[in-house]
Order: sequence, then structure tokens, then C-alpha cells
Amino acid sequence: MADTAQANAATTTTSAILQQVSLRQASPYDVWIESLGLPIHTGYYVEDVRTIELGWWEERQCNTAFLKLAGQEGVTEARITEIPAGATLPPVRFGLDEVVYVVEGRGLATVQGRNGRAAKTFEWQKHSLFLVPRNYTHQFSNVQGNAPARLLHYNYLPTAMAVVPDPGFYLRSPYEGPDVVSEQEVDFYSEAKVVTPSGDSDNRGMAFWVGNFFPNMRSWDQLVPFRGRGAGGHVVWIRYPSTTITNHMSVFPAQTYKKAHRHGPGVVIIIPAGEGYSVMWPEGQEKVFIPWHEGSVFVPPNRWFHQHFNVGSQPGRYLAFHAPRNMSTYSERVEDRARDQIEYPDEDPWIRETFGKELAKRGLTSLLPEIAYQEREFEWEYGQQGD
Ligand SMILES: [Fe+2]
Repeated sequence: MADTAQANAATTTTSAILQQVSLRQASPYDVWIESLGLPIHTGYYVEDVRTIELGWWEERQCNTAFLKLAGQEGVTEARITEIPAGATLPPVRFGLDEVVYVVEGRGLATVQGRNGRAAKTFEWQKHSLFLVPRNYTHQFSNVQGNAPARLLHYNYLPTAMAVVPDPGFYLRSPYEGPDVVSEQEVDFYSEAKVVTPSGDSDNRGMAFWVGNFFPNMRSWDQLVPFRGRGAGGHVVWIRYPSTTITNHMSVFPAQTYKKAHRHGPGVVIIIPAGEGYSVMWPEGQEKVFIPWHEGSVFVPPNRWFHQHFNVGSQPGRYLAFHAPRNMSTYSERVEDRARDQIEYPDEDPWIRETFGKELAKRGLTSLLPEIAYQEREFEWEYGQQGD
């Protein structure tokens, strides 16, 4: 009986969602999250996800908020969960792959085994990044008795719900699918490894960090030069063997800024460390100023130029969660540098002026060499990351 009641509730929810979808021309995902009555944070950015308001989500038995920032555009989900001090949340399942970044706290994750296999349990800490594979029952605990933990969850639910609009299909599905946790040669949650492809001749600087558990995004230093994007920045591309989700992380030096570029929607950016700001604008239109520091999240809207500025005295670091791979024309990669990236000599003078003013407020000056504004092909001498 309980199963039937639950199925009925799911059906009712879906029909209510579809009614609203057709009446309001809204997306099924938007209608669904509104129906939950939880905080939905909108706008271009959230200055600090460590302190934003959350609300009680009865079905998942935890405090939660959704981020629906302008650039997500119905493509990707970003959600914050809090685990009270010393608490263990109930076991849950989710029908899609989900990447979790720890914004605050320390705890344990347990992913249930299948076919009699033992569960996988691992310890996460602040700035850990890990994958929870689709259709596995899993559970989170906060091992600190004196402070709550906060997690950022990232997945492609809005895209999936555009096709199958039933929330229960993702939250209450009994489907298991392939046992990706057991079929890997190494332990699923062993520390991720660096893979540098040989014969990397396109000079983009490809270094892959492959695995399902990345212990500390703030301290990771095995990045390679990201030539062409300016500021002497470094990058590492993050890959999980069993999912379509990908990330990258960039680190760029104090008192510098990268070149403006643009691409498609849904790329969510969180700041693990640093102090700076980003500017985002649709071509030829007004610019949006986004201050950032640890815990800030922002999402460049579709085809808006965006540019990252480090006004601190330490390297700035940002972690990007990419849009689905099948949106290939919308990917993070700049396809046409002439149209989708603005070289320093071509930029609006406001960019350099504002950077100077923001640095001056902090008693600092720009470290971008004058030649970068004169030679379009100027390239940095790359030393160690952060140099
Ligand atoms: Fe970007």
C-alpha cells in the first residue's frame, strides 16, 4: 500500500507540474522546485553559499536551497544541502549522476554496494569534490560535533526533466543500472590520478585529473599552463570515468586578469580560494560586476562575455562545473577565438581602468605587463603554477 500511495503522490505531482508547464510555458524543473516551497536563489551570483538561507525539505529530511542563477538557463542544477553538527542524513537515491563539492565541514559518505558487495565509505573535508553515481543509495554524515557541513550538488536534472518531467523518476526510481562502482579496476573512491596525454601538440595545455574523489580543490597544485587565455593562468581538466559530467579548475596569479571569452549556458563556477571579481556582459551591452571570494558562485549566461580579475595578493582559483557534453556547440571551449575571446589590446578601456581602481582600493597595482596591451600574440613565460 505504501508503494501505491507514494506512486500516486508522484503521479499527482507530475500532472500538477504538466498543467503549470502548459499554462505558464515554464520548464518542468522550475515548476517542480517552486512546488517544494524551499528557497530558490536567483540573480547573477550568490556571494557566499556558506551563509545563504536554506529551508526544510521534508522528502529528503535536510535543509536545502536551490540556486537558479541567470546563466543556468534550465540546463544544470546547483543545490545546497546542510548537514547539522554530528548528524547523519537518511539514505537517499537519485537517478542521475551528481557531483558534490564540500563548501564547509568534514564528514563521511557511504555509497551502498550491490549484489551483496560491501558499501563504500570515504571521508570528505572542506574543498573535497566527488561523484555520487546514478541510482546508488547513499548517505552523508557530518563528523564534526560543533558545526554544520554544507555541500554543493551539481547535476543535469533540469535538462533531464525537460524530457521526463516526473520528479519521482529521479528521486524514487528502483532502477539500478550497471554497477559502475564495482566494475572499475581501482577502488572507486581512491584518490584521483593525474593523466597527462603524450603528444599534446595543440598547446592548450591538457592535464587531466581522473577519478571519483578529489580530496582538496583548494590545495591542488598540479596544473598546467592555459596558454591563450592570458594572465599566466593554469588549468586542470577533471574527468570521472563513469559519468558525462566534467569540470575544470583554473588558478591565476595575484593582481592579474584573464581575457574575456564567451560560450554557452549552464557552466556553474564556485570559488575555492582568492579575492576578485568577474564582469559579464552580452555583446555591446551593459556589464554586470560580480565580486567574489571563497564560497561565491556565479554562472555566465548564454553567449555573454565574461572575464575574471584577481585583486588579491594570492592566486585566485575557480572551479567550473560544465554543461552537458551533448551541448557541444555550447561547450566551455572557445571555438572561434576571433569572435569568442577578446584580446587585451582590443578590450574596452573600462576593463583596465576598473581593474586599476579595484587594486588601488587595496593598495595594489596591476602586474599585467604593458606589452600585453600592445601585442595581440603576447604570451607569458610560464613558471610554476601561481607564478
Ligand atoms: Fe567561461
